[in-house]
Amino acid sequence: MEAKIKAILEEAKEKIERASSLTDAEELRVAFLGKKGKITSILKSMGSLSPEERKILGKAANQARNEVEELIGSKIEEMKELKKKMTLAAEKVDVTEPGKKFKIGVKHPIERTIEEISDIFQSMGYSIAEGPQVESVFNAFDALNSPEDHPSRDKTDTFYITENMVLRPHTSSVQIRTLLAQEPPIKVISPGRCFRCDTPDATHSPMFHQIEGIIVDQGITMADLKGTLDSMAKEYFGSDTRTKFRPHHFPFTEPSAEMDVLCFKCGGKGCRICKGSGWIEILGCGMVHPKVLEVGDIDTEKYTGFAFGMGIERVAMLKYGIDDIRLFYENDMRFIQQFK
Ligand code: PHE
Repeated sequence: MEAKIKAILEEAKEKIERASSLTDAEELRVAFLGKKGKITSILKSMGSLSPEERKILGKAANQARNEVEELIGSKIEEMKELKKKMTLAAEKVDVTEPGKKFKIGVKHPIERTIEEISDIFQSMGYSIAEGPQVESVFNAFDALNSPEDHPSRDKTDTFYITENMVLRPHTSSVQIRTLLAQEPPIKVISPGRCFRCDTPDATHSPMFHQIEGIIVDQGITMADLKGTLDSMAKEYFGSDTRTKFRPHHFPFTEPSAEMDVLCFKCGGKGCRICKGSGWIEILGCGMVHPKVLEVGDIDTEKYTGFAFGMGIERVAMLKYGIDDIRLFYENDMRFIQQFK
């Protein structure tokens, strides 16, 4: 029995020595000191010994237990300490390490143009209204006084989702939404995507952007329209920009006009950009047709208004000298990065 105790003690010492983790140490505690542990079993078997033997062997077994307890206890402490050190080492932050470099993106030229033009109108007191890209035929055409046989309603010109729903071909549909939702004085602009059945080429895209604007109040005249759009052009293209209004036709405005700016490339002499005319068309506009105001239940004896719609791509192409509209949609970073 004495030899057995010694052997167990030796075995325990050796295994504790070799233990290299907290789990190892815990397992050894169970194996030697647990309910069915080797030392516990020895202590339990003491009952069958004679009193003299029990005295001697009991002492030896108790000493062995105390020793093993102590060794495992300090091993556990040691392992805990080690674990803590490892965690700290793993979580260490090197505050002297140089920062990671990251590239700062740039705004897409379309987004940037929308923001710049919106800022100009917002500084004149316009607020922003948005409308859906999938629009009813009513808001896109009927309410805008477009006759049933107007060519723009053709299925070869406008994308139809169903008989009564289209991908809006212009932002003018937001005019109706605004007139139905607000009471005069109304003063909003609406930037957004538009869609037309055009085959892509250097100046056409089936998806493009417009900014719509509408104002309705007492005493609004064509002079307000001209003054507003002329100052917008001067603000955006530069203070020496000259504008010209040409009569035009839109079903939803009367009278209607198109506004041209003097070609900033050639100063009006005529060049490739202005196609020799010296002027570049940038928007459509006019006095809101009384029939359109009536849809919004607005008293046409009391109120008048003007509206305009401008192609964003066109304006951006002119300002930055871009000669192919498709460049906007390719997301080639070499192109976009130029608009820092
Ligand atoms: N909706 C017209 C277009 O897409 C532009 C326009 C808007 C004209 C508002 C007059 C008034 O060409």
